Amino acid sequence: MGRVVSRAAVPRQAGYHPIHILPCLQRIAGFRAKSGQLPCAGHIIALRDFVLINFRILRENSQGSECAITMIKIASRMDRLGTESAFEILAKAQALAATGKSIVNLCIGQPDFPPPAHVIEAGQRAIAEGHHGYSAAPGILPLREAISADLHRRFDVAIDPSNITVTPGSKVALFFALQMLGEIGSEIIYPNPAYPGYESIIAFSGATPVAYPLSEATGFSFDADDVLSRITPKTRAIILNSPANPTSGILDRGELDRLVKGLEQHPNIAVVSDEIYSRIIYDGHAHFSLLSYESLRDRLILLDGWSKSFSMTGWRLGYAVWPKALVEHAVKLAINCHSCVNNATQFAGIAALEGPQDTVQAMVTAWSERRNIIVKGLRELPGVRCTMPAGAFYAFPNISGTGFSSANLQSRLLNEEGVALLSGTSFGSLGEGYIRLSYATSTEQIEEALHRINRFLVDNMETRRAAAVA
Ligand SMILES: Cc1ncc(COP(=O)(O)O)c(C=O)c1O
Repeated sequence: MGRVVSRAAVPRQAGYHPIHILPCLQRIAGFRAKSGQLPCAGHIIALRDFVLINFRILRENSQGSECAITMIKIASRMDRLGTESAFEILAKAQALAATGKSIVNLCIGQPDFPPPAHVIEAGQRAIAEGHHGYSAAPGILPLREAISADLHRRFDVAIDPSNITVTPGSKVALFFALQMLGEIGSEIIYPNPAYPGYESIIAFSGATPVAYPLSEATGFSFDADDVLSRITPKTRAIILNSPANPTSGILDRGELDRLVKGLEQHPNIAVVSDEIYSRIIYDGHAHFSLLSYESLRDRLILLDGWSKSFSMTGWRLGYAVWPKALVEHAVKLAINCHSCVNNATQFAGIAALEGPQDTVQAMVTAWSERRNIIVKGLRELPGVRCTMPAGAFYAFPNISGTGFSSANLQSRLLNEEGVALLSGTSFGSLGEGYIRLSYATSTEQIEEALHRINRFLVDNMETRRAAAVA
């Protein structure tokens, strides 16, 4: 092997952080793979010294504590999995609260009411009556029948209970659907900004996430032609979400009709319709379910659940309606993943669907009032404008007029004012210029948050203006 002037740069200084050893080794290996040659002797010696010095530092510093370098080989698909910032910000807010800081929490998408009393009783009764064992993997039949009856009542559709599987939250059904449809070399179309699970789980499946924009100008609905124009021979599925997280927009019926018409030319493309907020809808709007399109039935996956509508986020109960061709795969995934949903919870799910709906109505009425308060307050803030949410329980104001980036505003409001909310970029790149505030919290908390945000913006925007003039 001839002499090579290698470019596999090796940091020489002692005390360089040990975690950098691996990238360094990878660069050496990369150099070798590219050139087919080893780095020069000087670099190899430098690398040896560097490794020895840093392992000594590591050994001295890590007595009794966990080692900073993992030798475990982790599957590369893990690098494609994202996360939900709501949980990270919540943890930060809780950590700040633990230090005594006053925190107003508007970051988590979780109802602030208890589940209906008859639902809790049904769950307790199921435990008392001995429902402790595994149930059928797709869910107990009476629950799937109750779901079918509920869908018939609400949307006048006939769904065979054998097409339904019950999952520990609708998120699990979403995960299953995208693992069934996506693989390396395929594409899945999804909204942006949107629930972060879409992009993350598509990427995890190996498929390429292809975003379509939801724009403020159209009330955060989509343009059917724009979505259809993103279809390629690699497209496997399109995800729709209405009412939507984080925008609280609902999809325009005319655009939906045009999308479904356009999809007639693409009979091999599945549609995943996430309707988890379908019961939380304001101003007399009625939710329009994608189940209503008979022509989509053999390729529609409908997702819904109890988390938001019945205030049961921690019970982990959701479901999917699958086309015939996919049910057996959904059941196989359930068997391999969670076996079945908590047995007693499924009885509570029946009570929620079949019992009185007045608690759900009362929650929606309360959120509607809070929506009016938060939107009015946001619209009065300097540099902020806000569309009126049509469903769900999130305000998604445009903050581009404040001069702050979304992430900067999120972090400064948390650290300086103790207001926990989410940057629009937690929901995709097109969330820049927006923040998300959940108003599933008390009116007092909402008013306190508005007061603090106003104080922050007035102080800081004036400081910035003065700096700009000077
Ligand atoms: C749009 C959307 N889909 C799905 C989920 C998951 O809900 P769950 O798994 O609790 O049913 C959420 C939760 O925030 C959501 O906002």
